[in-house]
Amino acid sequence: MKEIKIALVKGDGSGPEMMEVACKIAIKAAKKDGIEIIFEETPMGWNAYSNFGDTLPVTSFWRAVELGTIFFGGVGDPKFDDSIGAEIPEMKPEARCLLALRKRMELLLNFRPMIYYKVLDHLANVKSETIPNSGIEQVFIRFLLEDSYFGNTDLINEISKDIREKLGIKLKQDVTGNEKMITEMAYYKKKTIEKYFRAAFAYARAKSLPLISIDKANVMARYDFWRKICTRIGREEFPDVQLVHQLVDSANALLFTPAKLHGVIACGNEHGDILSDGAAAALGSMGMMCSSAINPDTGAAMFESGAGTAPTLAGQNKANPLGRILTGAMMLRHIGATNGADAIEKAVRMVLINGFRTADLAQGNEQPDAILGTKEIGENALLSLEYKSRIQV
Ligand code: IPM
Ligand code: MG
Repeated sequence: MKEIKIALVKGDGSGPEMMEVACKIAIKAAKKDGIEIIFEETPMGWNAYSNFGDTLPVTSFWRAVELGTIFFGGVGDPKFDDSIGAEIPEMKPEARCLLALRKRMELLLNFRPMIYYKVLDHLANVKSETIPNSGIEQVFIRFLLEDSYFGNTDLINEISKDIREKLGIKLKQDVTGNEKMITEMAYYKKKTIEKYFRAAFAYARAKSLPLISIDKANVMARYDFWRKICTRIGREEFPDVQLVHQLVDSANALLFTPAKLHGVIACGNEHGDILSDGAAAALGSMGMMCSSAINPDTGAAMFESGAGTAPTLAGQNKANPLGRILTGAMMLRHIGATNGADAIEKAVRMVLINGFRTADLAQGNEQPDAILGTKEIGENALLSLEYKSRIQV
Protein backbone atom coordinates (compact mmCIF):
# COMPACT_ATOMS: atom_id res chain seq x y z
CA MET A 1 0.00 0.00 0.00
CA LYS A 2 1.16 3.48 -0.84
CA GLU A 3 0.87 5.83 2.14
CA ILE A 4 -0.46 9.36 1.65
CA LYS A 5 -0.52 11.87 4.50
CA ILE A 6 -3.34 14.38 4.53
CA ALA A 7 -3.87 17.29 6.93
CA LEU A 8 -7.19 17.06 8.71
CA VAL A 9 -9.08 20.06 10.08
CA LYS A 10 -12.09 18.72 11.97
CA GLY A 11 -13.36 22.25 12.42
CA ASP A 12 -16.21 23.78 14.37
CA GLY A 13 -19.88 23.14 15.05
CA SER A 14 -20.91 19.76 13.66
CA GLY A 15 -17.66 19.61 11.65
CA PRO A 16 -15.95 17.02 13.89
CA GLU A 17 -18.96 14.66 13.79
CA MET A 18 -19.28 14.91 10.02
CA MET A 19 -15.55 14.58 9.45
CA GLU A 20 -15.31 11.48 11.60
CA VAL A 21 -17.56 9.57 9.22
CA ALA A 22 -16.16 11.22 6.09
CA CYS A 23 -12.60 10.24 7.08
CA LYS A 24 -13.55 6.62 7.83
CA ILE A 25 -15.17 6.33 4.43
CA ALA A 26 -12.28 8.00 2.59
CA ILE A 27 -9.75 5.70 4.30
CA LYS A 28 -11.71 2.58 3.41
CA ALA A 29 -12.44 3.63 -0.17
CA ALA A 30 -8.83 4.60 -0.94
CA LYS A 31 -7.74 1.04 -0.16
CA LYS A 32 -9.49 0.00 -3.39
CA ASP A 33 -6.66 1.80 -5.18
CA GLY A 34 -3.90 0.50 -2.93
CA ILE A 35 -3.68 3.80 -1.04
CA GLU A 36 -3.42 4.05 2.73
CA ILE A 37 -4.55 7.53 3.83
CA ILE A 38 -3.00 8.75 7.05
CA PHE A 39 -4.83 11.77 8.44
CA GLU A 40 -2.77 14.10 10.56
CA GLU A 41 -4.79 16.56 12.60
CA THR A 42 -3.94 20.24 12.16
CA PRO A 43 -6.48 22.00 14.41
CA MET A 44 -7.98 25.29 13.21
CA GLY A 45 -11.12 27.27 13.99
CA TRP A 46 -12.81 28.12 17.28
CA ASN A 47 -12.13 24.61 18.62
CA ALA A 48 -8.43 25.26 18.10
CA TYR A 49 -8.81 28.63 19.84
CA SER A 50 -10.14 26.90 22.95
CA ASN A 51 -7.05 24.69 23.11
CA PHE A 52 -4.27 26.86 21.66
CA GLY A 53 -5.48 30.46 21.95
CA ASP A 54 -5.53 30.95 18.18
CA THR A 55 -8.03 30.01 15.47
CA LEU A 56 -5.04 29.46 13.19
CA PRO A 57 -2.23 27.98 15.29
CA VAL A 58 1.01 28.60 13.48
CA THR A 59 2.13 24.96 13.67
CA SER A 60 -1.19 23.79 12.19
CA PHE A 61 -0.95 26.29 9.37
CA TRP A 62 2.57 25.40 8.30
CA ARG A 63 2.10 21.66 8.68
CA ALA A 64 -1.05 21.78 6.55
CA VAL A 65 0.76 23.82 3.90
CA GLU A 66 3.68 21.40 4.01
CA LEU A 67 1.46 18.33 3.59
CA GLY A 68 -0.15 20.06 0.61
CA THR A 69 -3.49 18.24 0.82
CA ILE A 70 -6.08 19.30 3.38
CA PHE A 71 -9.40 17.72 4.30
CA PHE A 72 -11.25 20.61 5.87
CA GLY A 73 -14.32 20.27 8.07
CA GLY A 74 -15.32 23.93 8.00
CA VAL A 75 -14.75 26.66 10.56
CA GLY A 76 -16.99 29.28 12.14
CA ASP A 77 -19.60 29.47 14.86
CA PRO A 78 -21.76 32.55 15.53
CA LYS A 79 -21.68 31.84 19.26
CA PHE A 80 -17.94 32.53 19.35
CA ASP A 81 -18.14 35.29 16.75
CA ASP A 82 -20.37 37.23 19.13
CA SER A 83 -18.16 36.68 22.18
CA ILE A 84 -14.42 36.30 21.52
CA GLY A 85 -14.84 37.44 17.91
CA ALA A 86 -16.36 40.73 19.04
CA GLU A 87 -13.26 41.42 21.18
CA ILE A 88 -10.63 40.07 18.80
CA PRO A 89 -12.17 40.29 15.32
CA GLU A 90 -8.99 39.12 13.58
CA MET A 91 -9.54 35.70 15.20
CA LYS A 92 -12.74 35.06 13.25
CA PRO A 93 -11.75 31.87 11.54
CA GLU A 94 -13.53 32.09 8.18
CA ALA A 95 -11.21 34.76 6.88
CA ARG A 96 -8.26 33.92 9.12
CA CYS A 97 -7.98 30.26 8.19
CA LEU A 98 -9.61 29.82 4.80
CA LEU A 99 -8.28 32.91 3.11
CA ALA A 100 -4.79 32.39 4.52
CA LEU A 101 -4.65 28.82 3.23
CA ARG A 102 -6.08 29.74 -0.17
CA LYS A 103 -3.54 32.49 -0.53
CA ARG A 104 -0.48 30.66 0.76
CA MET A 105 -1.21 27.56 -1.30
CA GLU A 106 -2.33 29.66 -4.29
CA LEU A 107 -5.53 27.71 -4.68
CA LEU A 108 -6.71 29.24 -7.90
CA LEU A 109 -9.47 26.87 -8.94
CA ASN A 110 -12.50 26.11 -6.82
CA PHE A 111 -14.44 23.19 -8.29
CA ARG A 112 -18.05 22.94 -7.20
CA PRO A 113 -19.92 20.30 -9.17
CA MET A 114 -23.67 20.55 -8.69
CA ILE A 115 -25.21 17.13 -8.39
CA TYR A 116 -28.91 16.64 -8.93
CA TYR A 117 -30.41 13.61 -7.17
CA LYS A 118 -33.79 12.63 -8.47
CA VAL A 119 -34.59 11.03 -5.09
CA LEU A 120 -34.15 14.43 -3.43
CA ASP A 121 -36.48 16.14 -5.83
CA HIS A 122 -38.76 17.22 -2.98
CA LEU A 123 -35.97 19.48 -1.74
CA ALA A 124 -35.06 21.04 -5.07
CA ASN A 125 -36.20 24.55 -5.73
CA VAL A 126 -36.56 23.96 -9.43
CA LYS A 127 -39.54 22.34 -11.12
CA SER A 128 -38.63 18.77 -11.99
CA GLU A 129 -39.77 19.29 -15.59
CA THR A 130 -36.91 21.77 -16.03
CA ILE A 131 -34.44 18.90 -15.54
CA PRO A 132 -33.89 17.04 -18.81
CA ASN A 133 -34.02 13.22 -18.73
CA SER A 134 -30.36 13.18 -19.65
CA GLY A 135 -29.64 14.99 -16.36
CA ILE A 136 -27.73 18.13 -15.63
CA GLU A 137 -24.04 18.69 -15.64
CA GLN A 138 -23.20 21.93 -13.96
CA VAL A 139 -19.67 22.38 -12.68
CA PHE A 140 -18.67 25.68 -11.17
CA ILE A 141 -15.01 26.58 -11.41
CA ARG A 142 -14.78 29.59 -9.18
CA PHE A 143 -11.72 31.83 -9.44
CA LEU A 144 -10.55 31.66 -5.83
CA LEU A 145 -7.84 34.32 -5.56
CA GLU A 146 -7.57 38.11 -5.91
CA ASP A 147 -10.95 39.83 -6.63
CA SER A 148 -12.57 41.66 -3.70
CA TYR A 149 -11.65 38.87 -1.26
CA PHE A 150 -7.97 39.79 -1.29
CA GLY A 151 -8.10 43.33 -2.66
CA ASN A 152 -7.49 45.31 0.51
CA THR A 153 -5.09 42.84 2.13
CA ASP A 154 -2.94 42.47 -1.00
CA LEU A 155 -2.84 46.13 -2.00
CA ILE A 156 -2.82 47.94 1.32
CA ASN A 157 0.96 48.17 1.61
CA GLU A 158 1.26 49.69 -1.83
CA ILE A 159 -0.81 52.71 -0.85
CA SER A 160 0.43 55.51 1.39
CA LYS A 161 -1.21 56.07 4.77
CA ASP A 162 -2.62 59.46 3.72
CA ILE A 163 -4.35 58.07 0.69
CA ARG A 164 -5.61 55.09 2.64
CA GLU A 165 -7.17 57.35 5.22
CA LYS A 166 -8.70 59.59 2.61
CA LEU A 167 -10.21 56.74 0.67
CA GLY A 168 -11.20 54.62 3.66
CA ILE A 169 -9.06 51.65 2.64
CA LYS A 170 -8.93 49.37 5.65
CA LEU A 171 -8.47 45.77 6.62
CA LYS A 172 -11.75 44.15 7.54
CA GLN A 173 -10.84 43.67 11.20
CA ASP A 174 -10.09 47.40 11.61
CA VAL A 175 -13.50 48.60 10.47
CA THR A 176 -15.33 50.38 13.31
CA GLY A 177 -18.52 51.44 11.57
CA ASN A 178 -17.78 55.11 12.22
CA GLU A 179 -15.74 55.74 9.09
CA LYS A 180 -16.87 58.40 6.61
CA MET A 181 -16.27 55.99 3.77
CA ILE A 182 -14.98 52.49 3.23
CA THR A 183 -13.26 51.36 0.07
CA GLU A 184 -13.03 47.73 -0.85
CA MET A 185 -10.57 47.14 -3.62
CA ALA A 186 -10.85 44.33 -6.11
CA TYR A 187 -8.23 43.38 -8.62
CA TYR A 188 -7.44 40.79 -11.28
CA LYS A 189 -3.98 40.19 -12.69
CA LYS A 190 -3.64 39.32 -16.36
CA LYS A 191 -1.30 36.42 -15.62
CA THR A 192 -3.63 34.86 -13.07
CA ILE A 193 -6.74 35.32 -15.20
CA GLU A 194 -5.02 33.78 -18.21
CA LYS A 195 -3.91 30.76 -16.18
CA TYR A 196 -7.41 30.44 -14.79
CA PHE A 197 -9.12 30.49 -18.17
CA ARG A 198 -6.65 28.04 -19.69
CA ALA A 199 -7.53 25.59 -16.91
CA ALA A 200 -11.28 26.24 -17.17
CA PHE A 201 -11.34 25.86 -20.96
CA ALA A 202 -9.22 22.68 -20.78
CA TYR A 203 -11.66 21.24 -18.25
CA ALA A 204 -14.66 22.13 -20.43
CA ARG A 205 -12.94 20.56 -23.44
CA ALA A 206 -12.20 17.35 -21.52
CA LYS A 207 -15.84 17.16 -20.42
CA SER A 208 -17.20 18.17 -23.87
CA LEU A 209 -19.21 20.91 -22.20
CA PRO A 210 -19.62 24.58 -23.09
CA LEU A 211 -17.80 27.15 -21.00
CA ILE A 212 -20.23 29.64 -19.50
CA SER A 213 -18.33 32.67 -18.30
CA ILE A 214 -20.07 34.87 -15.73
CA ASP A 215 -19.28 38.56 -15.38
CA LYS A 216 -20.65 42.05 -15.02
CA ALA A 217 -18.83 43.42 -18.05
CA ASN A 218 -21.63 45.88 -18.82
CA VAL A 219 -20.65 48.01 -15.81
CA MET A 220 -17.40 47.02 -14.17
CA ALA A 221 -13.88 47.38 -15.45
CA ARG A 222 -12.51 44.22 -13.93
CA TYR A 223 -15.21 42.14 -15.59
CA ASP A 224 -14.62 43.83 -18.91
CA PHE A 225 -10.99 42.76 -18.51
CA TRP A 226 -12.18 39.26 -17.53
CA ARG A 227 -14.40 38.97 -20.61
CA LYS A 228 -11.75 40.26 -23.01
CA ILE A 229 -9.15 37.77 -21.76
CA CYS A 230 -11.68 34.95 -21.77
CA THR A 231 -12.74 35.72 -25.35
CA ARG A 232 -9.16 35.93 -26.60
CA ILE A 233 -8.06 32.66 -24.99
CA GLY A 234 -11.19 30.94 -26.25
CA ARG A 235 -10.72 32.16 -29.79
CA GLU A 236 -6.97 31.52 -30.01
CA GLU A 237 -6.51 28.35 -27.99
CA PHE A 238 -9.88 26.64 -27.56
CA PRO A 239 -11.92 27.38 -30.71
CA ASP A 240 -13.57 23.94 -30.39
CA VAL A 241 -15.07 24.80 -26.97
CA GLN A 242 -18.41 26.59 -27.11
CA LEU A 243 -18.19 29.84 -25.16
CA VAL A 244 -21.15 31.68 -23.67
CA HIS A 245 -20.90 34.98 -21.79
CA GLN A 246 -23.57 35.44 -19.17
CA LEU A 247 -24.13 38.46 -16.98
CA VAL A 248 -24.21 37.53 -13.31
CA ASP A 249 -27.69 38.88 -12.63
CA SER A 250 -29.29 36.89 -15.42
CA ALA A 251 -27.16 33.85 -14.49
CA ASN A 252 -28.71 34.06 -11.04
CA ALA A 253 -32.18 33.87 -12.55
CA LEU A 254 -31.11 30.93 -14.75
CA LEU A 255 -30.27 28.85 -11.67
CA PHE A 256 -33.98 28.01 -11.66
CA THR A 257 -33.91 26.65 -15.21
CA PRO A 258 -30.71 24.65 -14.80
CA ALA A 259 -30.73 23.21 -18.33
CA LYS A 260 -29.75 26.71 -19.44
CA LEU A 261 -26.66 26.54 -17.24
CA HIS A 262 -25.54 23.12 -18.40
CA GLY A 263 -21.79 23.43 -18.67
CA VAL A 264 -18.62 24.52 -16.94
CA ILE A 265 -19.32 27.80 -15.20
CA ALA A 266 -16.37 30.16 -14.89
CA CYS A 267 -16.92 32.92 -12.36
CA GLY A 268 -15.05 35.37 -10.17
CA ASN A 269 -14.42 34.81 -6.48
CA GLU A 270 -17.37 36.80 -5.18
CA HIS A 271 -19.82 35.83 -7.92
CA GLY A 272 -18.87 32.17 -7.49
CA ASP A 273 -19.43 32.24 -3.75
CA ILE A 274 -22.95 33.56 -4.20
CA LEU A 275 -24.01 31.59 -7.26
CA SER A 276 -22.72 28.23 -6.06
CA ASP A 277 -24.83 28.29 -2.89
CA GLY A 278 -27.84 29.26 -5.00
CA ALA A 279 -27.16 26.49 -7.51
CA ALA A 280 -26.82 23.88 -4.76
CA ALA A 281 -30.10 25.00 -3.18
CA ALA A 282 -31.85 25.16 -6.55
CA LEU A 283 -30.94 21.57 -7.39
CA GLY A 284 -31.37 20.07 -3.94
CA SER A 285 -29.65 20.82 -0.70
CA MET A 286 -26.70 22.85 0.53
CA GLY A 287 -25.87 19.91 2.80
CA MET A 288 -24.99 17.87 -0.29
CA MET A 289 -22.53 20.39 -1.75
CA CYS A 290 -18.97 19.25 -2.34
CA SER A 291 -16.03 21.44 -3.19
CA SER A 292 -12.31 21.38 -3.87
CA ALA A 293 -9.73 24.13 -4.24
CA ILE A 294 -6.68 23.37 -6.36
CA ASN A 295 -3.38 24.93 -7.34
CA PRO A 296 -3.03 23.72 -10.93
CA ASP A 297 0.77 24.19 -10.91
CA THR A 298 1.77 22.45 -7.69
CA GLY A 299 -1.22 20.16 -7.14
CA ALA A 300 -1.68 21.58 -3.61
CA ALA A 301 -5.32 21.20 -2.70
CA MET A 302 -7.92 21.74 -0.03
CA PHE A 303 -11.15 19.78 0.13
CA GLU A 304 -13.85 21.66 1.91
CA SER A 305 -17.54 21.12 1.39
CA GLY A 306 -18.89 24.60 0.72
CA ALA A 307 -21.73 23.98 3.18
CA GLY A 308 -21.43 25.45 6.68
CA THR A 309 -20.63 23.91 10.07
CA ALA A 310 -24.26 23.43 11.23
CA PRO A 311 -23.42 24.91 14.67
CA THR A 312 -26.97 24.62 16.02
CA LEU A 313 -26.82 20.84 15.58
CA ALA A 314 -23.37 20.41 17.13
CA GLY A 315 -22.97 17.44 19.45
CA GLN A 316 -26.40 16.04 18.57
CA ASN A 317 -25.47 13.56 15.83
CA LYS A 318 -27.91 15.31 13.48
CA ALA A 319 -25.91 17.09 10.78
CA ASN A 320 -25.89 15.77 7.24
CA PRO A 321 -22.41 14.41 6.46
CA LEU A 322 -23.04 13.58 2.79
CA GLY A 323 -21.48 16.81 1.45
CA ARG A 324 -18.30 16.00 3.41
CA ILE A 325 -18.37 12.41 2.23
CA LEU A 326 -18.71 13.52 -1.40
CA THR A 327 -15.93 16.05 -0.89
CA GLY A 328 -13.86 13.06 0.26
CA ALA A 329 -14.57 11.48 -3.14
CA MET A 330 -13.16 14.58 -4.86
CA MET A 331 -10.09 14.26 -2.66
CA LEU A 332 -9.64 10.61 -3.60
CA ARG A 333 -9.86 11.42 -7.30
CA HIS A 334 -7.18 14.07 -6.77
CA ILE A 335 -4.76 11.61 -5.12
CA GLY A 336 -5.36 9.04 -7.84
CA ALA A 337 -7.80 6.81 -5.95
CA THR A 338 -10.32 6.76 -8.79
CA ASN A 339 -11.99 3.47 -7.90
CA GLY A 340 -12.46 4.67 -4.34
CA ALA A 341 -13.92 7.98 -5.52
CA ASP A 342 -16.40 6.19 -7.81
CA ALA A 343 -17.33 3.83 -4.97
CA ILE A 344 -18.06 6.73 -2.59
CA GLU A 345 -20.26 8.51 -5.12
CA LYS A 346 -22.16 5.31 -5.75
CA ALA A 347 -22.47 4.61 -2.02
CA VAL A 348 -24.05 8.02 -1.42
CA ARG A 349 -26.60 7.31 -4.14
CA MET A 350 -27.33 3.92 -2.58
CA VAL A 351 -27.94 5.50 0.84
CA LEU A 352 -30.43 7.92 -0.71
CA ILE A 353 -32.11 5.34 -2.94
CA ASN A 354 -32.56 3.09 0.10
CA GLY A 355 -34.58 5.88 1.69
CA PHE A 356 -32.15 6.82 4.45
CA ARG A 357 -32.14 10.51 5.28
CA THR A 358 -30.79 12.96 7.79
CA ALA A 359 -33.54 15.27 9.06
CA ASP A 360 -32.62 18.10 6.67
CA LEU A 361 -33.12 15.81 3.67
CA ALA A 362 -36.48 14.51 4.84
CA GLN A 363 -38.39 17.75 4.87
CA GLY A 364 -41.40 18.17 2.59
CA ASN A 365 -43.90 15.52 1.61
CA GLU A 366 -41.46 12.71 1.29
CA GLN A 367 -41.83 9.79 3.68
CA PRO A 368 -38.31 8.54 4.25
CA ASP A 369 -37.79 4.93 5.31
CA ALA A 370 -35.63 6.11 8.14
CA ILE A 371 -34.33 9.35 9.59
CA LEU A 372 -30.84 8.64 10.74
CA GLY A 373 -28.11 10.49 12.57
CA THR A 374 -24.75 11.62 11.21
CA LYS A 375 -23.02 8.43 12.37
CA GLU A 376 -25.68 6.05 11.11
CA ILE A 377 -25.81 7.66 7.66
CA GLY A 378 -22.02 7.26 7.62
CA GLU A 379 -22.28 3.59 8.60
CA ASN A 380 -24.76 3.01 5.80
CA ALA A 381 -22.48 4.66 3.29
CA LEU A 382 -19.59 2.55 4.59
CA LEU A 383 -21.62 -0.63 4.07
CA SER A 384 -22.72 0.53 0.62
CA LEU A 385 -19.07 0.90 -0.39
CA GLU A 386 -18.92 -2.87 -0.67
CA TYR A 387 -22.34 -3.31 -2.19
CA LYS A 388 -22.17 -4.56 -5.74
CA SER A 389 -25.37 -3.34 -7.27
CA ARG A 390 -26.74 -4.19 -10.67
CA ILE A 391 -29.18 -1.34 -10.33
CA GLN A 392 -27.97 1.76 -12.13
CA VAL A 393 -27.41 4.27 -9.35
C1 IPM B 1 -17.23 29.35 0.77
C2 IPM B 1 -17.40 30.14 2.03
C3 IPM B 1 -16.17 31.02 2.23
C4 IPM B 1 -16.07 31.95 1.03
C5 IPM B 1 -16.13 31.84 3.52
C6 IPM B 1 -16.42 30.99 4.75
C7 IPM B 1 -14.80 32.54 3.67
O1 IPM B 1 -18.57 30.89 1.99
O2 IPM B 1 -16.24 28.61 0.67
O3 IPM B 1 -18.08 29.47 -0.12
O4 IPM B 1 -16.74 32.98 0.98
O5 IPM B 1 -15.31 31.63 0.13
MG1 MG C 1 -19.83 30.42 0.33
